[in-house]
Amino acid sequence: MRNVGEFEQDKQICMHYEDDRGRFHGAVVPPTFQNTLFTYPTLGELVEAVQSEKHHYVYGRGTNPTVEVVEKKLAALERGEDCKTFSSGMAAISAAIINSVQSGDHILCVSNLYYSTMELLKYLGKFNISHSVVYSTNTEEISQVIQSNTKVIFLESPTDMTYRLIDLAEVSKLAKANGIRTIIDNTWATPLFQKPLTFGIDIVVHSASKYLGGHSDVLGGALITSKKIMETLFKKEYLLMGAAMPPSEASLLLRGIRTLPLRMTAHQENALKVAEFLESHPKVAMVNYPGLRTHPDFELGQKQLTGYSGLMSIELSQADYRQVEKVINKMKAFKIGVSWGSFESLVLSPNLNNNEGKLLKEQISPGTIRLAVGLEDVNVLIRDLEQSLND
Ligand SMILES: Cc1ncc(COP(=O)(O)O)c(C=O)c1O
Repeated sequence: MRNVGEFEQDKQICMHYEDDRGRFHGAVVPPTFQNTLFTYPTLGELVEAVQSEKHHYVYGRGTNPTVEVVEKKLAALERGEDCKTFSSGMAAISAAIINSVQSGDHILCVSNLYYSTMELLKYLGKFNISHSVVYSTNTEEISQVIQSNTKVIFLESPTDMTYRLIDLAEVSKLAKANGIRTIIDNTWATPLFQKPLTFGIDIVVHSASKYLGGHSDVLGGALITSKKIMETLFKKEYLLMGAAMPPSEASLLLRGIRTLPLRMTAHQENALKVAEFLESHPKVAMVNYPGLRTHPDFELGQKQLTGYSGLMSIELSQADYRQVEKVINKMKAFKIGVSWGSFESLVLSPNLNNNEGKLLKEQISPGTIRLAVGLEDVNVLIRDLEQSLND
């Protein structure tokens, strides 16, 4: 790899790295290997391949040449040793967690995590795996929640819905000192804007259904880690649980990744303008976006983020759900829907269970509105926000 600026290097990875044109007759994009199995000239050769399936094409639930190109790009972008892709972000998260714990262990989560990740942790109670949530991003307070059986610290930085940052270097140091594995969901920042492995985090997971795919037409996940962790994870959680990324999805994901640097730069530009507009609006009490200089973690962000994506939240001055509903229902350019990270702007309330009490417990104001700033003209987006916030 050329010794050039990190972003320039990442652009090269997204566009050309491991495309292996020599192997594919010069095809400018790698072909989609839409086959489930690979045949061998002799039984002996097949047996040999099965014994080291990670490094041989045997069956689609393990490896596939098209899928492998995406995995090599993602590993390189995260500066990790190895990557496996999955059929969804939740499949990647499940594999990372299950690989890291056994019955009797405890998982510590830092502040607000994506809803289904929290549900997964509750579900693991069935196997005698407990968890605690510390509603703080302060390393000292996190350290106080560590138990003798804590085996994993799971984090999202920025945190879900509240968009606070966690000091990745400090938390990984704390975890290492206590023999705890760290897992981070890096979907918000993408590997372009945050590389957690370089701060000592052990496993990075992604929902590729967001920015990596970028066009709301791919469902996928990725897990990037060391060769050592991947060794068992591939044989157990990957092959046995069977949530491999299909080659057709890998092709779409490859297409998305080629324009990731261009899209992320544009998301960032739009989001910053939207955040600045909202910050000055009298009906908005708070804008939770770490790209703003006024954000409480802006300084930390300068240390560990190299950019900011398009997802943020606002808290209305009139902090009640009725008002949230009124504002959201007036929006036109922002479409109402779950998910985020694609070309289209989206809006959502975190109150999907109609339970303001639960939100408050999670330290989320009932006046919160989540905005995924897309790639439309920013003036269209700002005008839409202006008309929906005004009475
Ligand atoms: C932060 C985050 N992580 C993980 C996921 C799960 O990804 P997937 O929907 O691809 O399973 C989501 C989905 O919304 C998410 O927002």
